Amino acid sequence: MKILKISLFTLITSVAILPACYYDNEERLYPSLNNACDTTNVTYSGFVRSFLDGYCISCHSNSTASGSIKLQDYTDVAANADLTLKALNGDGVPLMPMGSSSKLDACKITSFAIWIKKGKLNN
Ligand code: HEC
Repeated sequence: MKILKISLFTLITSVAILPACYYDNEERLYPSLNNACDTTNVTYSGFVRSFLDGYCISCHSNSTASGSIKLQDYTDVAANADLTLKALNGDGVPLMPMGSSSKLDACKITSFAIWIKKGKLNN
């Protein structure tokens, strides 16, 4: 009887715990999404501008920045690029976009980092 109780307990806990071990994440389910990050030709006009316009400009334009950094013109973006990368990673400064609880997807952050590495060109 004791053995039956123990095995019943084991069976029930296994059933309860095992499904939790299934790690359901996008990269595993769709490995091709991960490979789709093409950073061979990251330019200001082709990536950086639309990226910042999409995620940041609502609070960082010349008219909305109110004391914080401006990300509207190339000159301001280049001057603030290193700080911007830190903000995208929440590295010592508040994580951006403001109010988000997790980083933007890695491909965007990597692309921005590559644009910096290639000399922050106005290309
Ligand atoms: C909803 C408004 C909002 C959005 C969207 C937003 N920011 Fe910010 N950001 C702020 C505010 C407000 C501050 C000032 C925060 C502070 O000083 O504590 C700030 C500060 C910053 C700073 C300066 C951090 C520092 O400590 O000096 C950087 C860099 C920055 N944001 C980058 C970005 C980037 C890049 C994006 C887009 C990915 C973005 N922000 C999106 C509101 C926003």
